[in-house]
Amino acid sequence: MKYVINGGNKLFGKVNIDSAKNSILPIIAATIMCDEECVIRDLPLYLDVIEMVAILEKLGKKVEFQGNNLIISGEISSTSVIMAETKTLRSSIFMMGSILSKYRKAIFTYPGGCDIGKRPIDIHLDGLKKLGIKFTFANDLIYCDGNKIAGNNIELSFPSVGATENIMMASTLIEGEITVIKNCAREPEIVDLANFINSMGGKVFGAGYETIVVFGVKKLHGTNYKCIADRIATGTYLIAGAMCQGRIEACNVNPNYLLPLIVFLRNSGCKVDLFSDKIVLENFSRPKSIAKIETQTYPGFPTDMQSLILAMQTISKGNSIIHETVFEARFKVVSELQKMGAKINVSERYATIVGTSKLKPAFVSCPDLRGGAGLVLATLSAKGKSVVDEIFHIERGYYKFDENLKSLGANIEKVE
Ligand code: EPZ
Repeated sequence: MKYVINGGNKLFGKVNIDSAKNSILPIIAATIMCDEECVIRDLPLYLDVIEMVAILEKLGKKVEFQGNNLIISGEISSTSVIMAETKTLRSSIFMMGSILSKYRKAIFTYPGGCDIGKRPIDIHLDGLKKLGIKFTFANDLIYCDGNKIAGNNIELSFPSVGATENIMMASTLIEGEITVIKNCAREPEIVDLANFINSMGGKVFGAGYETIVVFGVKKLHGTNYKCIADRIATGTYLIAGAMCQGRIEACNVNPNYLLPLIVFLRNSGCKVDLFSDKIVLENFSRPKSIAKIETQTYPGFPTDMQSLILAMQTISKGNSIIHETVFEARFKVVSELQKMGAKINVSERYATIVGTSKLKPAFVSCPDLRGGAGLVLATLSAKGKSVVDEIFHIERGYYKFDENLKSLGANIEKVE
C-alpha cells in the first residue's frame, strides 16, 4: 500500500485525536492480570493494537469488539508467548510482567529489534531479576521462573518506558509486598497504565514522577477504561499545519503533554493557543528554524517527534541541529528526505539541517513508523505529485491517517 500525495495545499480544520498507541499496548498486556471483564473504550485500530489483541487471543483470553469498544475477559490458557507476532511487535515484551505477576512462569521469544535501534531488554530483565525472577536462555527463548517473586527496591539504570511498565505490572499481584522503582520513566502513558491498574483495584502510586511505589494485591477486578489521547499523533497534525500552513485544531487532548513541542512551534513563528482539551495552531508563513533540538525522556522533547520536527526543519528558514539522545539509529528517514532535496547531514546521533524554501515531490519509502509520518508531512508541503510507499509502518501507529489529513484539505489517496 502507498499514499499518492499532491502537495501544496494549506490545511484547515479539526482533528479528534485517538487514544494513545503507547498507552493501549501496555494496558492490553495488563488485562492478563485480571480474569473479569475489562472494557477499553474507543479503541483505534492501530496495526500494533490488532497484533497485540491477536496475541492475547492466542494465549486464551476471550476478546471481542463491540463497536469501538474492546471487551477482554477470562484467563489465558498458556504462558508461552512464542508466536510470529512477537518477533515484529516489541510490545509483546510487556506481557512478561503481567504473566509473571499472575502465573509466576512464562516463556518468551526474544523480541526483535527494529529500524530505530537494537532495542535490548537488559533493563527489563535486571529489574525483574530484582523481584526474584529467574531467567534461563536457550534456543532463542527466554524461560522465566517467578516462583520466588517478591517485592524489592529497584533502581533503573535508564528511565526505560517499557522496563518501568513491565516491572510495575510484575509487582502488581505480589500480595502484601512493596516494590519501589527508582529512576523510572515519567511519560503520560506510564501514568495511564498505573491509572488502569488502579481502576482494577491495584495499588500503584507515584506514576509520572521519578519513583513509583507498588503495593502488591491479591486479585484485580474488571474495569471500564478510556486511554489518554495520543500526544505524538497530536504533534504530527500540528506540525503538518506548521509546514503546509493553515489552521489546525487538535481536539480531545491535554496540552500539558506537549509543552516542549508547543514552545518549538511558537519559536518557529506559529500562533499556538492552548485550551483545556484542545490545541489550536495557526501559521501563514515559512517557519523559522530551531537552532538546537535535543530529544530527551519525558518531560523533555520526545524522541517519537524527532522525525516530524526534522521534516519541519528541512523547509524552515535557517539552520538547525537535532541531537537524538534516546535511540542510536533514528535518522533512517534522512536519505528519503534527501531525495526531495532536503539538505541534511548526519553524523552519529546528530543531524544538521540547512532549511530550503521548497522540497521537490518524489517517490519515497517509509523506513519506520515516525520516519514514515515525517515523509508524509514533507510530501504534503512539497508542491506536486509524490508517492509514499511501505505505509504499513505508518498504520502501526496512526489510525485513519489519510482520512484525517484529507478532512484537513490534503490531497492524499491510499492506493495498492
Ligand atoms: C517506548 O519504547 C515506546 N513504545 C517508543 O515508541 C518510544 O520511542 C520509547 O518508549 C521512548 O519513549 C511503546 O511504548 C510501545 P525505552 P521502549 O525502553 O519502551 C534503551 C513509537 O514510535 N533500552 O524507553 O522500547 C533502548 O534501546 C515507539 O511509538 C535499553 O538499552 O523504549 C532505547 O535506546 C518507538 N535496554 C532507550 O533505552 C532496555 O532494557 C529507550 O528505550 C530497554 C531500553
